[in-house]
Amino acid sequence: MIRLNKVSKTYRTDKVETLALKDIDLQVARGEFVAMMGPSGCGKSTLLNLIGLLDRPGQGSIEIDGVAITRYRDRQLAKLRNQTFGFIFQSFHLIPDLRVIDNVELPLLYRSGSDGKSSERRRLAREALERVGLSARIDHYPNQLSGGQQQRVAIARAIVGQPQVLLADEPTGNLDSKMGAEVMDILLKLNAEGTTVVMVTHDEQEARRVNRIVRVFDGQLVTPERLHAA
Ligand SMILES: Nc1ncnc2c1ncn2[C@@H]1O[C@H](COP(=O)(O)OP(=O)(O)OP(=O)(O)O)[C@@H](O)[C@H]1O
Ligand SMILES: [Mg+2]
Repeated sequence: MIRLNKVSKTYRTDKVETLALKDIDLQVARGEFVAMMGPSGCGKSTLLNLIGLLDRPGQGSIEIDGVAITRYRDRQLAKLRNQTFGFIFQSFHLIPDLRVIDNVELPLLYRSGSDGKSSERRRLAREALERVGLSARIDHYPNQLSGGQQQRVAIARAIVGQPQVLLADEPTGNLDSKMGAEVMDILLKLNAEGTTVVMVTHDEQEARRVNRIVRVFDGQLVTPERLHAA
């Protein structure tokens, strides 16, 4: 459902040009759970942001369900992004002044269209929190939760709009191994229920639990051939 064709990305600052990704060919099929691995600075987050339409490639094309997004205007791109993807980050990005339930509802508020009823939003948020096992904490504030619980709130917020694809950038990076394993359990469960997942991780043990590992090195995908070469 996601296809990248010869995608490159260069970052330009005043003085420096960084070729962050070079000629990436990647396909992610519906229902897959892909772990993306590689050393710091190799381009994993850049690649995840391109897949999630948070950024545009310098060269190459990206297709979502067979439709190339190259000609999409920013607003069309944002709409497609909101319909298709849910995002989870290493540092949960919860809003400290909002209760758990309100944090989870937030993405629905940004959505235009007919699902604007507040009782419906509340129902969907409760349902999402139930799926991550946090029904008992909906009135807490983020700082009253453990790291693992906060990440589960962030997952609930990512899935409340029922995205087809979850993109997670080191979702267990700030968690100890027990809480990390709980978060992995939830991601695996969501995947088993049909959500496609692409996750950046540094943890080989986590990566071994998923369908497929994609390795990135110096802005390029490491094919199995290259792994065994030389
Ligand atoms: N906004 C930016 N402006 C300029 N250079 C950037 C920007 N974002 C990333 N880069 C550069 O692009 C390269 C890839 O960065 P990226 O964040 O994708 O790496 P990463 O694999 O996610 O690393 P990490 O494991 O440390 O998170 C790095 O060399 C980085 O310095
Ligand atoms: Mg990164």
